Amino acid sequence: MSPQGFRPETISVHIGNEPDPATGAVAPPIHLATTFRHSADGERIAGYEYQREGNPTNDRLRETLAALEGGEDAITFASGMAAMTTLLECLPNGARVLIPDDCYTGLRMLCAEYLPERGIETVAVDMGDLDAVRVACTPSTAMVWIETPSNPKLKVSDIAALAEIGHAASAIVVADNTFATPLLQHPLALGADIVMHSTTKYFGGHSDVLGGALVFAKKAELSAKVAHRLHITGATLAPFSAWLTLRGCRSLGARMAMHCANARKIAEFLASQPQIERVNYPGLASHPGHAVAAKQMRDFGGMMSIELRGGREAALSMASKLNIFTNATSLGGCESLIEHRASVEGPNPRSPQNLLRISVGLEHVDDLIADLRQALA
Ligand SMILES: Cc1ncc(COP(=O)(O)O)c(C=O)c1O
Repeated sequence: MSPQGFRPETISVHIGNEPDPATGAVAPPIHLATTFRHSADGERIAGYEYQREGNPTNDRLRETLAALEGGEDAITFASGMAAMTTLLECLPNGARVLIPDDCYTGLRMLCAEYLPERGIETVAVDMGDLDAVRVACTPSTAMVWIETPSNPKLKVSDIAALAEIGHAASAIVVADNTFATPLLQHPLALGADIVMHSTTKYFGGHSDVLGGALVFAKKAELSAKVAHRLHITGATLAPFSAWLTLRGCRSLGARMAMHCANARKIAEFLASQPQIERVNYPGLASHPGHAVAAKQMRDFGGMMSIELRGGREAALSMASKLNIFTNATSLGGCESLIEHRASVEGPNPRSPQNLLRISVGLEHVDDLIADLRQALA
């Protein structure tokens, strides 16, 4: 089945989910084999050799992800961080990389702790300030890393404008699309070269499977280099994890619609509460990135953060009084989560002490609002 002309909801159900040709099974089988029979002189019988290099369950997921993002190739990894690391390891020693000033802590730590060992310089820029990005994007810049909406402040950046700036410097433009998912935003169509995902989040959707992916606009030298590096360095996605992620993909459209609907109502409720100084949710007209988000996103997602009046104490007090929201890291599952990010970001937290990050789940929104209301009382 070709993804041509189908909407994301249809692609996520059908592409990579064709009935098993051997049995007609409508749900895909899991191929757990680590090795595949070949001829005496090493010729592959059905295209596979060894699980670390590739397996049929992973290939189904690759097909789904590539079709959803509109890319020519997708590569899956054992985690989002493995995807990120493998890609950054393909840059030459001494490269310069621009990253957002607000981004997932793991990227920030990778850039601070490991990339300098190879002389890779990372420069944190406010990606919403296009003039600042133009200045930072020198001719020696090898990669521009976008994360929009960003984690945890939900900053929005203009993917098309950033792709243009990056390409003018011949840089590779990568977008972490974890928060939005391809149900809401298509960075490749806006000019990015690569989309990165933590599939641990919305794709898996049930807080029970770790995974990552890169989707390439073009199947070319760089995608081949990344695939080879993964084969040799070994951060392969296990087939059972690929299967669980595929299962998550099939309901992604329905889940994202409800995450967005619930989040919009919760953001409006929280914005009306005097105890809350700021609600960072791009769906609110008051959000500084609202216009850009409305231009490049189909809806505004299920993630938000709030900044409370009364600093750290007020934030911890609210987080500790919630009954339905669980205090836990991660996001994108069915259950609503809340987290005081500064408490979990290691010795040099970047998040404000009064900030709580919220992953809005699939519970009834009135129950969620009632829970938030009692925690603020
Ligand atoms: C935006 C974003 N990118 C990447 C990652 C890393 O993904 P993983 O935890 O699957 O390694 C995370 C994890 O929280 C994330 O929130």
